[in-house]
Amino acid sequence: MTPPKPLAIVSANVPDDLLAKLEENLELHVVPAGTRLHGLLPREVAQRASGLLCTVRTPVDRPLLEELPSLRVVSNVAVGFDNVSIEAANAAGILVCNTPRVLDGAVADLAMGLVLCLARRLVFFDTFTRDGRWGRTPAPLGTDLSDKTMGILGMGRIGRMVAQRAQAFGMHIIYHNADGRPQQDGTTFGHYVARDELFKSSDFLSIHVPLTPETQKSVAQREFSMMKKTAFLVNTSRGPVVDEEALVVALQNGSFAGAGLDVFTNEPLDPRSALAKLENVVLLPHVGSGTVETRRAMIDLAVQNLVDAMLGIQPRSMVNATAWPINVKAMSSR
Ligand code: GLV
Repeated sequence: MTPPKPLAIVSANVPDDLLAKLEENLELHVVPAGTRLHGLLPREVAQRASGLLCTVRTPVDRPLLEELPSLRVVSNVAVGFDNVSIEAANAAGILVCNTPRVLDGAVADLAMGLVLCLARRLVFFDTFTRDGRWGRTPAPLGTDLSDKTMGILGMGRIGRMVAQRAQAFGMHIIYHNADGRPQQDGTTFGHYVARDELFKSSDFLSIHVPLTPETQKSVAQREFSMMKKTAFLVNTSRGPVVDEEALVVALQNGSFAGAGLDVFTNEPLDPRSALAKLENVVLLPHVGSGTVETRRAMIDLAVQNLVDAMLGIQPRSMVNATAWPINVKAMSSR
C-alpha cells in the first residue's frame, strides 16, 4: 500500500506541468485562485491540510489558521505577504514562503513605464489620437526625463532596478530607506537623502516599500505638501502605503502634478471611485509582475517552495525562517 501523501490546498492558477509535479508529491484540494477560504473548506480537508498555495487575494489570518489545525506551510505566489498574518503563523508554527527576486525586473519595468506615461502623457495621447483631436487641437507638451531627479522610497531589490533604469534615461537618483541608512552592500548608487528631502527634491518619486503597520498610510498629506508642483508619484508597491483619500485631495488641488498607480487600497479599484475620475492619474490593475515569463517564474518558485517544505527540504524563500523546520504529517483521509 502506498503511504498517504500530505494534503495541500491550492488556490492559484497552476499550469498543467506544475500541477502534475504537485500531484506527484501531494494530495491536492483545488479551489479557484483568490478564493477567500474562511468557512468554505469541507471539514475533512480543513482538518487534514498541511499546505496552502495561494495568492495575495487570499487572506490568511488567525481565524483561518484556527480552521486549519494541521497547516504547516503557506506558499504565497507573491513577493508581498501582507495578506498573511506572520504573527499568527509564527504562533501556530507555520512556515510562510514567498517569491522574491524573480519579479524584480518586471515590477521595475512597470514603474518606469508609469514614469514615461506621466512624463509624456502616453495614455492621454492615445485617447487624443483615437478621438480625432490630432490636427484639430494643439497637443500639450510633456516633460523630459533626462536631468530630472528620480526619488526612490525603499532602495531594496526592486528599487535598485528602478534606479538602474532611471539612470539609463539620464535621471539623477536619490533615495531613502526606512531604517534611515544608506545601502551598505555596494550594489547601489545615487544619493541617500533624509525622507523629507526625498519628497521635496524628487521630480518623480517611486515607492518600493512593503506594506507593514509602520508603512500603512505613511505617504500622506504631509508628504504631498512637500512635493514640487511639477512632481509625479508612482506606486507599484501596495496601495495602503499611500493615504488614498489624501492623495485624491492633493491631486484635485494640484499639490503635485500627477500619479501613476498600479496598486490601491481596495482592489479591484471601483471605477466609480474618486481616483478614477481624475485626469492627472494613470491607473493600472495591479500588474507589476504580470508578464508571461515572470508569472511563470513566480509559480515555479511557489510550487517548489511548497513541495520542498512539505517533503522536509528547506525551501528557497522563507519569510519567517524561525518556523523552519516544520513537521508535516501525512494523515490518512480514512
Ligand atoms: C505582487 O504584488 C507581489 O507582491 O508579488
